[in-house]
Amino acid sequence: MLIDIHDLHVQFEQGKQAKHVVKGINLHVQQGETFSLIGRSGCGKSTVLRVIAGLLPHWQGNISLLEQTIKPQQRFQGTLRRNIQMVFQDPYASLHPQHRIERAFSEPLKIHHIPFDKNTIEQALAQVGLPADVTSRYPHQLSGGQRQRVAIARALLLQPQLLLLDEPTSALDMSVQAEILNLLNTLKKEHNMTYLLVSHDADVIAHMSDRAALMENGELTQHYDREALSKGIHRLD
Ligand SMILES: Nc1ncnc2c1ncn2[C@@H]1O[C@H](COP(=O)(O)OP(=O)(O)OP(=O)(O)O)[C@@H](O)[C@H]1O
Ligand SMILES: [Mg+2]
Repeated sequence: MLIDIHDLHVQFEQGKQAKHVVKGINLHVQQGETFSLIGRSGCGKSTVLRVIAGLLPHWQGNISLLEQTIKPQQRFQGTLRRNIQMVFQDPYASLHPQHRIERAFSEPLKIHHIPFDKNTIEQALAQVGLPADVTSRYPHQLSGGQRQRVAIARALLLQPQLLLLDEPTSALDMSVQAEILNLLNTLKKEHNMTYLLVSHDADVIAHMSDRAALMENGELTQHYDREALSKGIHRLD
């Protein structure tokens, strides 16, 4: 089991009150699966992903990732940190505006003590269909689709086992969206990855997922298997 979550709760402080955002969810994802979370804005999807990425230390419950038990406040290090990568909802926000793309690639390599090598980066870019010369550009000099490809290429650079995809295509127009989703499916097969995908788009979920769950107000209220997904998820809003 790559993701094994039991009774996860997340609360945020709001003045003197606690805001209960994730209310006891269970999530079990096998190696090689694409599992998706679907739900309305604000229901808690990104919060769940941020816990799994190790970006949100305050939670309660039982979590095991890649067969390792995780504790609240734990810093993800070593293989765990390397093997769980996230593509964020807004690729603009995840790329530093004053850093050239080359730096976005060299920094994760440095963190994991992997020697910087131009070939590795060129290959990572080539597999998402980008020319090598984008490394010399700044994020604002790329299109939205190109920025999202950069974010995906960077996440794949460390060859993670688990890729967390938070609305990876919602900012893109339909044709670019389809291209990136197909690319993600191809890369998943090539690299034998597991995906946890967040989307509010029922068609995207149906196209990508082995299983999915509907999140409503911090809870998983419905589960869909492949057969249910093939019939389409009709009602969401
Ligand atoms: N750091 C934080 N502090 C306080 N409240 C937060 C924090 N992060 C998220 N929230 C709140 O938690 C709730 C869930 O947020 P989350 O980002 O998980 O929603 P989401 O399902 O990803 O929504 P969207 O589809 O709009 O991205 C929201 O009400 C949000 O305002
Ligand atoms: Mg979100």
